[in-house]
Amino acid sequence: MLTELTDDPELAAEFILKGELAAFPTETVYGLGADACNPTAVARIFEAKGRPNDNPLIVHIVDPAHLRFVVRELPSHAVRLLNAFVPGPLTLVLPRYRAIPDIVTAGLDTVGVRFPSDPVARAFLRACGRPVAAPSANRSGRPSPTTWQAVISELDGLIPCILKGGQSQVGLESTVVDCSQDEPLVLRAGAVTLEQLQAEVPSTRLLSDHTGSARAPGMKYRHYSPCAHVVLIDDLKGVELTGKCAYIGLADTDLPFQRVVICQDLDEYARKLFEFFRQCDLEQIGQIFCQKVEEKGLGLALMDRLRRAASK
Ligand code: TXA
Ligand code: MG
Repeated sequence: MLTELTDDPELAAEFILKGELAAFPTETVYGLGADACNPTAVARIFEAKGRPNDNPLIVHIVDPAHLRFVVRELPSHAVRLLNAFVPGPLTLVLPRYRAIPDIVTAGLDTVGVRFPSDPVARAFLRACGRPVAAPSANRSGRPSPTTWQAVISELDGLIPCILKGGQSQVGLESTVVDCSQDEPLVLRAGAVTLEQLQAEVPSTRLLSDHTGSARAPGMKYRHYSPCAHVVLIDDLKGVELTGKCAYIGLADTDLPFQRVVICQDLDEYARKLFEFFRQCDLEQIGQIFCQKVEEKGLGLALMDRLRRAASK
């Protein structure tokens, strides 16, 4: 299949309206979209990604009026979170409306909904004029792409269209909050932080091992780890370099790493992490040192992704 590259949101939307796939930028990571109400189109997402079909997809919308074609009811705590953080890097899991086919939600009675803030994403969704189901635009088990070039390296020849935008500003996937029960439950940490959510709805909790995994089907899958051995470190004291090594963190270093990314703050660390991992794989780095950060604010999401990358 020939993969068409475009920077025209309307052209990319034509693929969606024809029942085909189009990758598109968002502020978190690039997504791989299909018409959420067309089960045949959505099936193509699972095929292109090699994604297990019991892992549900998020539905993306731009127009709040479309919410009623996606969700059956909107609990009051969900309304508070929507008003505070939407559009932005937040996904709400809500009771599903029947127009959304089983294949999107893996048969669950809930559906994840997200309103991206990225202007290109919004122009694309507006041109689609309907809800778009989209996971991250990587092959299953690979890092989420944060540039259109990374989408090419993942899906060239497997999908008909890539809408080019800038580098994803957040760089980590959205915060996923289950709002289908009495108290909001954070299933995946992201750039909308636990502290921010609790400031709006104080009863918001973080999914722990105790809460169980039944409500978070995606979390049981192995997440991406680079080919290299990933080591999480507090600081660079005592670090010994053997073979090709790389480093990403906040602290400066003079050590002769093959690749070094020193970040000014947590935002930059999050934005650059996945692209750094990709480059390390391309350069066949053997060992990657990642500096740990404090698990508050964006640091909670960053440590979650770092731990997954470090677990083999
Ligand atoms: O930032 C993002 O969320 C990106 C962009 C493209 O929007 N999308 C994304 O999708 O990361 P994906 O499929 O890679 O991750 C979605 C996560 C999965 O862990 C999935 O299991 C979970 O959200 N999820 C989706 N619907 C759910 C539902 N109804 N109940 C529980 N978890 C759900
Ligand atoms: Mg993903």
